[in-house]
Amino acid sequence: MSNNASHYDAIVLGAGGAGLMCASVAAQRGRRVLLIDHADQAGKKILISGGGRCNFTNIDTAPDRYLSANPHFAKSALSRYTPADFIALVDRHRIAWHEKTLGQLFCDGSARQIVHMLMEECAKGAVRISLGRPIREVDHADGRFTIRYGDETATAAALVMATGGPSIPKMGATGFAYDLARRFGLKVVEPRPALVPLTLGGDEILFRELSGVAADVVARCGKAAFREAALFTHRGLSGPAILQISSYWRHGEEIGIDFLPSCGRNWLLEAKRARPRSHFHTIVGEALPARLAEALTKKLGLWGELANMPDLKLGEAERRLGDWRFSPNGTEGFAKAEVTAGGISTAELSSQTMEAKTVPGLYAIGEGVDVTGWLGGYNFQWAWASGWAAGQVL
Ligand code: FDA
Repeated sequence: MSNNASHYDAIVLGAGGAGLMCASVAAQRGRRVLLIDHADQAGKKILISGGGRCNFTNIDTAPDRYLSANPHFAKSALSRYTPADFIALVDRHRIAWHEKTLGQLFCDGSARQIVHMLMEECAKGAVRISLGRPIREVDHADGRFTIRYGDETATAAALVMATGGPSIPKMGATGFAYDLARRFGLKVVEPRPALVPLTLGGDEILFRELSGVAADVVARCGKAAFREAALFTHRGLSGPAILQISSYWRHGEEIGIDFLPSCGRNWLLEAKRARPRSHFHTIVGEALPARLAEALTKKLGLWGELANMPDLKLGEAERRLGDWRFSPNGTEGFAKAEVTAGGISTAELSSQTMEAKTVPGLYAIGEGVDVTGWLGGYNFQWAWASGWAAGQVL
């Protein structure tokens, strides 16, 4: 141990949502806390989140809205620090907010307010914050962690890994937490991009001409289904429904899209009876953007009047429009993924405290852990809740 080292009760690596929450909670409990980030600014992902307004929680938060190899793991932390707790904090800081849709809460003003709030909470507990200096070395001996960062050295009995996942590397995101966890013998569930646009190749390349078209759909993969907007892009598909389903999708699997979720059973046959002279693409175009209706009509090969189409064919068209199968050839990867699924295995951690079972004093919180929320404020709620859980016991 260096003689010039500074000593703390806890060192938190990563000043994102989880690290800021954890550091402030522990420090306000009287712990001496050092928070280190290689970025020159804390909470960079918070600043760009929710289109600059930060979708900071979701009032419908529930454990079944998180993906993990162990779906029970997140229950404890999520139930002990709830959306209501975070809203109370936001209210104490007089930050105005609103519900946009589907339980998603956003700042009325700016995401900066959330970062400012968390920094103020850290200041209340006199957290020492080091920004813009790289972590050069992490050692562990005799129950103490020693961190060399920039040209300084610090030691503590507790070390919290809160450096997130590798999504959006150009913002400074890294797989540092995984490397560190592996060094301590902890397993890592294969990280993969999640909440990410899907790319299309082969036959589906035809859909690229629809770039810019959006539609309200139900996207399905396995048992997961999301009704929200899908957006055609020049590379494939995006939009909330697709981002949501991407977290469940694995290479080689099919995605099913219901393009007409509001149409009842036999709606095409009923349309044929009611308006036999109408053209197929006109009828479909009443429920969908015209360009999409045309592309689907082209794919189904159903040009002409409904009256000339056998019921069997219309029944088959209805089935296909209600469950259009795509085989994405990939995703847009970590460069475009809003989060990383997988991560430090929950089997290695206490769900109460986030402490590693085999390395006393080592903790993992936030996105680096194998817990991934749906789109819509769920990932920040996990960052707050897991950060709070660790902050209680440091
Ligand atoms: P986070 O990534 O926030 O923080 C990790 C910190 O560690 C960073 O400050 C980073 O600089 C630092 N770090 C990384 N490697 C390091 C290293 N080697 N050395 C030192 N420091 C290192 N979620 C949500 O709920 N609502 C929303 O509105 C959005 N919107 C959104 C938009 C976009 C564009 C993205 C990319 C993501 C979102 N998210 C979101 C997801 C959300 O941002 C994410 O889940 C949380 O920020 C995760 O918080 P963490 O603190 O775990 O990691």
